[in-house]
Amino acid sequence: MQTKLIKIDADDPNKEDMREAAEIIRSGGLVAFPTETVYGLGANALDPEASKRIYAAKGRPSDNPLIVHICRFEELLSIAKEVPPQAEKLADAFWPGPLTMILPKADIVPRETTGGLDSVAVRFPSDRIAQVAIRMPNHPVALALIDESGCMIAAPSANTSGKPSPTEAGHVALDLDGKIPMILDGGPVGIGIESTIIDLTEKVPMILRPGYITKEMLEEVLGEEVRIDPGIIASDSTKKPKAPGMKYKHYAPKADLVLVEGEQEAVVAEINALVREKQAAGLKVGVVATDETESLYQADYVVTIGARSDEDAIARHLYKILREFDDWNVDAIYSESFSTPRIGQAIMNRLMKAAGHQVIHV
Ligand code: TXA
Ligand code: MG
Repeated sequence: MQTKLIKIDADDPNKEDMREAAEIIRSGGLVAFPTETVYGLGANALDPEASKRIYAAKGRPSDNPLIVHICRFEELLSIAKEVPPQAEKLADAFWPGPLTMILPKADIVPRETTGGLDSVAVRFPSDRIAQVAIRMPNHPVALALIDESGCMIAAPSANTSGKPSPTEAGHVALDLDGKIPMILDGGPVGIGIESTIIDLTEKVPMILRPGYITKEMLEEVLGEEVRIDPGIIASDSTKKPKAPGMKYKHYAPKADLVLVEGEQEAVVAEINALVREKQAAGLKVGVVATDETESLYQADYVVTIGARSDEDAIARHLYKILREFDDWNVDAIYSESFSTPRIGQAIMNRLMKAAGHQVIHV
């Protein structure tokens, strides 16, 4: 299959291009498109055959449910069986935006879209409610595609399963060229890590995946306690995460990645010592540094993820950097750690998974 890569001006999407993309969605095909978090791989959420094509193109395990993207709040009422007042409050505050809500699903949403939801039996052994994940993305191209197609769009991140999520159209092309009919290139994304997922089907709302919207922001709007899925904070990963996708070894670069944590000076010294050790054994080594420390390292490849004080930049650059190390064929990567004040938890969640939880404390 020939993949069409179309440049789209995010501020003024070309109507002809959007019409062509919308027609692909309506006829059951796949279109990759930008959102504010990462690029998504979209299909008509209510068409089981279209959903199956997503799993095939990504090589995604079929038990891992998709997020349904909408462009109007009213659409929520047609795919969720119940819309609790909490969902309205959160939508008011954060939609369109990087927040996904899990709600009980209406019958029109096919099981193909919700991953067969075998997980339901595990998570809700007593009542067996089936859920659906829903989000309204804050990106003009994504919203135009949903609107123009007249479809709600199921979309996972547009990467091959197991690779870092794509933050620019080139990443999508590397993974999916020849496998999908169209990629809409709206330039690099703004946020760079996937949406926060909140489960509203339990008594106490629970974060299943940390993201740009934090626990504190959610609690402030809801006026009640929000919990974090213990399965995603346990660094020894003994507890099983509730979002099926969080259990897979995602985002792993080809090289062995190890995080080093501690005071800056000690971290730099430790990483340099580890680099020398590996290089002495004939290996090629990369380092993930910050603007502040970039010049202090001696390695084969030293990349800066941004200024330590600019956590938004750190999130935005993370996946791109992990992909770059794959291109350079390094054997080992050492990274500083980024437990920054607001979205540090979301950043470290991704980085810890990429590192297979290998951390050295100095
Ligand atoms: O920012 C984002 O959310 C991006 C953009 C494209 O919107 N999408 C994204 O989709 O990250 P994906 O498929 O890569 O991740 C969806 C996550 C998976 O971990 C999946 O297991 C979880 O959402 N999920 C979906 N439906 C669920 C459900 N009913 N219950 C629990 N977890 C669910
Ligand atoms: Mg993904």
